[in-house]
Amino acid sequence: MSDSKLTHPVAAQKAPYALEVEAGKNYTWCACGLSKKQPLCDGSHKAGSTIGPIRYTAPKDGKAYFCGCKESVNRPLCDGTHGKI
Ligand code: FES
Repeated sequence: MSDSKLTHPVAAQKAPYALEVEAGKNYTWCACGLSKKQPLCDGSHKAGSTIGPIRYTAPKDGKAYFCGCKESVNRPLCDGTHGKI
């Protein structure tokens, strides 16, 4: 186990990711910022971060705006916080 793991998320991008989602389907949002499959988790946190992903169940079909800066208070969705960082 490495002691150089991130304890704070890194911004994947300072803007949300728009993703088409399906009602009732689960999505695993990357909370650490290290995933190569943004905005979703690819398991990278296991090696590089102490921060695990967050599950999101889509309430309806359509576009969801997932936070890319990883600082949203309304995780996993964008709440506009990226405009202040
Ligand atoms: S992308 Fe993080 S709050 Fe908008």
